[in-house]
Amino acid sequence: MIPIAKPLLGPEEVAAAAEAIQSGWVSQGPNVAKFERAFAEQVGASHACAVSNCTTALHLALLAVGVKPGDEVITVSHSFIATANAIRYCGAKPVFVDIQPDTYNLDPALLENALSTRTRAILCVHQMGMPCDLPAILEIASRHGLPVIEDAACGIGSEIRMGEDWERIGKPHGDVACFSFHPRKVVTTGEGGMLTTNNPDLDQRFRLLRQHYMSVPDTTRHASSQVIFEDYPELGFNYRMTDIQAAIGYEQLKRLPEIIGRRRELGSRYLLLLSEIPGLGLPHEPVWARSNWQSFCVRLPQGSDQRRVMQFMLDAGVATRRGIMCAHREPAYPFGTWSCEGGMDACGCGDGGCRKLWHSEEAQDQTLVLPLFHQLSFEQQNRVVAALAAALGE
Ligand SMILES: Cc1ncc(COP(=O)(O)O)c(C=O)c1O
Repeated sequence: MIPIAKPLLGPEEVAAAAEAIQSGWVSQGPNVAKFERAFAEQVGASHACAVSNCTTALHLALLAVGVKPGDEVITVSHSFIATANAIRYCGAKPVFVDIQPDTYNLDPALLENALSTRTRAILCVHQMGMPCDLPAILEIASRHGLPVIEDAACGIGSEIRMGEDWERIGKPHGDVACFSFHPRKVVTTGEGGMLTTNNPDLDQRFRLLRQHYMSVPDTTRHASSQVIFEDYPELGFNYRMTDIQAAIGYEQLKRLPEIIGRRRELGSRYLLLLSEIPGLGLPHEPVWARSNWQSFCVRLPQGSDQRRVMQFMLDAGVATRRGIMCAHREPAYPFGTWSCEGGMDACGCGDGGCRKLWHSEEAQDQTLVLPLFHQLSFEQQNRVVAALAAALGE
């Protein structure tokens, strides 16, 4: 069976985890601080703050930029449900805008129409590792004085051209970028997340919020020769990463250039091989974007039965996944928990099946994610392509 993804973990990660365990400090501590410094340097950010996963990173980012109950946050429905859920954790309402059908990312042309007096932030996603159109989004945000949070869960190692320069996703270009280290991502710590920002005040807020707003961290109290009592001036959370995870993450970061090189090689090879299959839609990489190909997504020819194609490939020993989900179609998102473009009243679709999100819905129903991971051999990749061609030609 060719799996959909496989983390690249080796003896270096095993040794680093063992060392962390033997050090006697296994919760958030020196390894987290070391991982944060390496991560900030890797993406070119002034600050990086590690947390338990990307969902908690998104929650803290939204709280830190001031999202409150009753506010609206503009985002996409076409994303893992964590994106929209994080908005609802703040008591705010996600306002979904549609995606561009070729990049599967937020369509900036629809953004302005979705703004209302209640809009507090924009949460854009670099879906499947493909950078979204940040310059266009940032321009609209700055005109309306709105903070931009980047959901870069899948985006480590991807790059975007800003003016003349290629820059890493996470620099960040908005106010905050949030990353995931789930095993389906390019580098992993099992579970884990990171927030990057250039704003020291936001970074300080993340550090307090992730640890119950504890005024003096346990690491500082532990190292002090004086007795210190901490206090808790605001409501916070336990969203900490452990030192064992961070030790693994530090080793994973060293592998990043090699992993990205291999993924881009496999991505280019897929583009070439799959161009032979009639009617198949290939992912589009704009000239200003370099994807890490965290996921390689193809659009099935018109009339294909997505489930049948996936089953055929599974029977042929190739795992696939359906295209990215749409949060607004889930029972957890009954009409009213989210708003349509320009607010529910302006939209008027009224039935919870918002036709203004039709590119999102089509992408969910008509696309497949193919196996792509560091260890995937050319021979295995040929088998994936052959299985897809057979499934469609059948
Ligand atoms: C776009 C996006 N946002 C957020 C998340 C949540 O990440 P985590 O599992 O680390 O909480 C994911 C995870 O798949 C994701 O793909």
